[in-house]
Amino acid sequence: MKILKFFLMISLLLSSTEILKAQSIIWTEVEPGIWKGVIGKPEEFDLLKVAGAQPYYAGLQQMPKVTFPLAQDEIIGRVQDGKTYLRFPLERKEQIFGFGLNFQTVFQRGKVLSLHVDNYAGKDNGRTHAPTPFYVSSNGYGVFINSARYINVYAGTAVRRDSKTVPDVQDRNLDKNWNSHPYSDGVEILVPAAGVEIYVFAGPTTLDAIRRYNLLNGGGCLPPRWGLGFTQRMQRLTDAQGVAAEAQAFEEKGYPLDFIGLEPGWQSKSYPCTFEWDKTRFPDPKTLVQDMLKKNIRLNLWTNPYVSPEAPVYKDILPYSGSHTVWNGIVPDISMPEARKIFFGELEKGKIDIGVSGYKMDEVDGGDNYLWPDVAVFPSGHDAEQMRQTYGLMMQRYTSEIYHNRNQRTFGLVRASNGGGASFPYVIYNDYYDHRDFITALVNSGFAGVLWTPEVRSSKTAEEWLRRFQSNVFSPMAMINAWASGTKPWSFSEVAEQVKTMANLRMQMMPYWYSEFAKYHFEGIPPFRAMYLEDGFTNTEARSENKKLNLEENPYEEAATKEVKDQYMAGEYLLVAPMFAGQTSRKVILPKGKWYDFYSGKYAGNGEVINVTPGLDKIPVYVKDGGIIPMMPVMLHAPKAGQKVDIEVKYYGEQPGTYSLYDDDGETYDYEKGNYAFRKITVIKLNGKLKGAITPAPKGKPDNVGKVTFKAMTEL
Ligand code: GAL
Repeated sequence: MKILKFFLMISLLLSSTEILKAQSIIWTEVEPGIWKGVIGKPEEFDLLKVAGAQPYYAGLQQMPKVTFPLAQDEIIGRVQDGKTYLRFPLERKEQIFGFGLNFQTVFQRGKVLSLHVDNYAGKDNGRTHAPTPFYVSSNGYGVFINSARYINVYAGTAVRRDSKTVPDVQDRNLDKNWNSHPYSDGVEILVPAAGVEIYVFAGPTTLDAIRRYNLLNGGGCLPPRWGLGFTQRMQRLTDAQGVAAEAQAFEEKGYPLDFIGLEPGWQSKSYPCTFEWDKTRFPDPKTLVQDMLKKNIRLNLWTNPYVSPEAPVYKDILPYSGSHTVWNGIVPDISMPEARKIFFGELEKGKIDIGVSGYKMDEVDGGDNYLWPDVAVFPSGHDAEQMRQTYGLMMQRYTSEIYHNRNQRTFGLVRASNGGGASFPYVIYNDYYDHRDFITALVNSGFAGVLWTPEVRSSKTAEEWLRRFQSNVFSPMAMINAWASGTKPWSFSEVAEQVKTMANLRMQMMPYWYSEFAKYHFEGIPPFRAMYLEDGFTNTEARSENKKLNLEENPYEEAATKEVKDQYMAGEYLLVAPMFAGQTSRKVILPKGKWYDFYSGKYAGNGEVINVTPGLDKIPVYVKDGGIIPMMPVMLHAPKAGQKVDIEVKYYGEQPGTYSLYDDDGETYDYEKGNYAFRKITVIKLNGKLKGAITPAPKGKPDNVGKVTFKAMTEL
């Protein structure tokens, strides 16, 4: 009997270890500091392939040499019943960031997420416009799951019996320190497919891991210069005269304007869409577009992809569309070349080919109550889930390819993206309109390989209007989206001048923004990013303890952590700390090293928390010691290709300063063929005097730099 029991126990033990036993993963270094691991049989239709991502080798080549950043035997995986189970180790002090465009949280350790393309609905649960399956660690590495599936993530929440660091068992009856979230030492991921490709990115820093990810995607996008100016999206149902009048009003009032967005109404019908100009409102679109171009103002067109039965392309595209409709429009299966030819041909014909500068591709994210359901089928055989995860990516890829083929850059908007899309010249937006959460999204965009705009629509007060506008000027796309409200920059007369000053500042800073985007492209550095990626940054504020021991309301109390999500880095040298309506002062955490006020050049602090009261006119911005901000004169439109522009180099602090100023024609893709220049600016203080220099434009390369002057912002 005893012997029988013994054998029973042994076999039970063996079978349970069998359950936990996993397949080891073979890792191959596919690019410098990037390893690919394959488990099971990965699906053909993955994010990187759908995005057509091509690594930017020259950028990757420049990154430091590194070794595999994790213990390989601690990364385990297993394929069972058509699903892939993955586990990655976590150390005790490690924090993780990423998992897409989150709006309320920056720390992802302790989260359970279902990564699913969707319209953001107010909770960071994985359902968002860009649920990029990519995370980075404070230990300086990153992980990407190359799957176009809904992915479940247990980001340091699940506790395994066989874990290396099993948490102590506590007794809630009497132990006051009982924790509803026992310590977890792993990220566990469930991919609903019988295999997957995984990428691991080494650092050494967290930012380096992000850079490698972006460079694997082809490098970040480089917008045309005009994309970094100001854009106004007009009220729906505007007509051609309205567009001309808008352009004139901006000019007369002296507000900068680079492109106008047309919202629903340029098409004869929308929701579902016909993709043809409305003949009454726009009888001669070609003349309008060309007249606007003469004034240096471009047009961008709103659309969603849902095809009206009255659209000229309806019949042709019907055989290549999904089983379900969206707002009674058919959904082209743009994963099929046949559908693409018709659909993107229609976006080009009479639009791009008459000079339209780009698109805003709306409602490719969700929500569930209007989008195709998960039971929908598509003629390509890709299922509804795969289409949902990639529709935004495909819209970006195939529209940008049209522009690329014309050697013309575009910069537009999209409401869904995913892993693989960092090189697409599109900015994400949504309808959620919470100023604070918009800033947190800006912070998180840098972890997700996407760009995000905290757009301005309307406001309850002049104060709110100005505060929102100030943040927007320090973002990838400075934009008013007046589709519903019809607002203009001068709508609140009390602050119309302050708004103009901010819009002008955006234009003056164009050489800086443009150079920072060049670094996104060539070096993979996100232009807008979290403080956590900045050297010398530590959150010196105490963690707030949320010990709410109300067992009815909060039986498994959420862990309270204090995150820094209301200030961010903009480019190499700037720290931006937005103000929100109702606030007169705020705390700003300055990383180690000296920081200076952007406007006055005065010393602001060093590795400390400062309290600032900037007044209504200013958004707090700080510059790193030795910081250089190249500025141009105020212009109403971005400089054109070949137009020489004077540069004033603003220098802050006391350390010697250096800057890489980027230059190219600003409009074409010739930079891909080497037709660009990085010019080195250096500034030093010598015997109480400023000495500045800039290297000459290399022979045969574009040179748009006019007279260069140097200005010490901090007293010498
Ligand atoms: C929304 C979009 C808005 C606006 C509107 C027009 O889906 O987020 O920015 O374009 O559609 O109907």
